Amino acid sequence: MALSSLAIAGYFVGQYAQGTLDSLAHQHVGLADTYASRALPVRVAFYVHIVSAGLALALGPWQFSRRLRERRTRLHRAIGRTYLAGVAIGALSAFVVSMFSSVGLLGFFGFGSLAALWGWTAWRGYKAIRRRDIGSHQAWMIRNFALTYAAVTLRLWFGLLILVQVPFAHGADPFPTILAQAYAPLPFLCWLPNLVVAEFMIRRRALPALHLTTSPPTAHRGPSGQAAATGG
Ligand code: HEM
Repeated sequence: MALSSLAIAGYFVGQYAQGTLDSLAHQHVGLADTYASRALPVRVAFYVHIVSAGLALALGPWQFSRRLRERRTRLHRAIGRTYLAGVAIGALSAFVVSMFSSVGLLGFFGFGSLAALWGWTAWRGYKAIRRRDIGSHQAWMIRNFALTYAAVTLRLWFGLLILVQVPFAHGADPFPTILAQAYAPLPFLCWLPNLVVAEFMIRRRALPALHLTTSPPTAHRGPSGQAAATGG
């Protein structure tokens, strides 16, 4: 997990340091041609997003090391604060960028929801540790990093969805269509399965899991023998 996070953070963030957005657009690097033509505030948000989210992706995996948490608690806290700052700035800027996504409304709803949940889960994780609720803190940070890791799973899904289409490719230049088809489901596919895996991990570690249903009220008999309803 740490290796894939570092590789994606290094490679994809690094490619935007190779030149201006205009020059990168001419070389068809990443999404440069989409954002080179956007207004200045959108271009700024795009760069802010790449740097802050890249920082969060590079720092996040280290927080799951038990050794670091137990032996270097102050370092865990320092990395945690920097990570949360990266997520906060990354989520806000991602929300702005999602409104100008290369895939229009689909990008806005998919990446926009991801941005909102990314910020919210970080906030829940932060609030939990402020009240010293370590179990909830761990659960929320697992959910939060599962969303950060969407930057990795997006690229894995993209590669896979390109590969499965190649044997069926036809026409003179099928690649623009293949790329567009492969990218279309990604605004949702990059993060929804991650959340499901995160919830399994949380349950396996016996941490406070999300309950999609409320348990029906159960009758408890008090010391006087009187029945009292408790629930939810
Ligand atoms: C988890 C919350 C995240 C959200 C909501 C988000 C949102 C977005 C959006 C909306 C775009 C533009 C997509 C388009 O126009 O189709 C984008 C691009 C990008 N994001 Fe994120 N992102 C997130 C996490 C990350 C992370 C952790 C990284 C770290 C590497 C990252 C790095 C990038 C890069 C490098 C691009 C340019 C795309 C490319 O060249 O392939 N993002 N992001």
